[in-house]
Amino acid sequence: MTIHIGAKTGEIAETVLMPGDPLRAKWAAETFLKDVKCVNETRGMLGFTGTWKGHRVSIQGSGMGMPSLSIYANELIRDYGAKTLIRIGSCGAMQESVGIRDVIVAMTASSMSTPSRGFFRELQFAPCADFGLLEGAVAAARAKGVNTHVGGIYSADVFYDERPDLNEQMTRHGVLAVEMEAAELYTVAARFGARALAVLTVSDHLLTHEALPADQRERSFGEMVEIALEAAFG
Ligand code: ADE
Repeated sequence: MTIHIGAKTGEIAETVLMPGDPLRAKWAAETFLKDVKCVNETRGMLGFTGTWKGHRVSIQGSGMGMPSLSIYANELIRDYGAKTLIRIGSCGAMQESVGIRDVIVAMTASSMSTPSRGFFRELQFAPCADFGLLEGAVAAARAKGVNTHVGGIYSADVFYDERPDLNEQMTRHGVLAVEMEAAELYTVAARFGARALAVLTVSDHLLTHEALPADQRERSFGEMVEIALEAAFG
């Protein structure tokens, strides 16, 4: 048991999928895993462990934003021995070439800051994905016929952004999409020798202002869960 996770030692698998929304963790565990057990209910940030094709896997909510994700990633790796962490979540597209429902596999994650920023002083650390996981996710997404983009994303500190000029610079520099967690996930994983990846579905578009209709969200989320599982074990 840790401060934020009530699971007993050994109840969390080495591979952990991390949606932001704890109810998504519940849905994914009940839909895709066998022999599922709820291993965390602390603060309602639900976590589950089960098996997928015989592999042990946990699905633990991360909450929204890097400070929240950082707590769970730190405790999963340092206290429970997690070795592979894959964020599954949504993002806002920042390029015309990226469409609603497309999948983004995040090679790098830029940020203004992360909870780890203080460690680096003047250094601008470049958080990047594990290449083996990235290759696996891209292959799995393409095999499903999902429109997939691989490249840099932006992990923002705020959803309601008062700096549209910053988003313009991101677009200009080829950043594919914005979300709020991956840069810290990649940084914490790097620090402790774990593998990390973020697989994201485009839920809204910053340039066209389109949004994914509610009835398509579950289907897109399901595809991401399968892509993440195949990347981890395929
Ligand atoms: N997640 C999904 N859409 C987003 C957006 N527009 N900004 C930040 N995070 C997001």
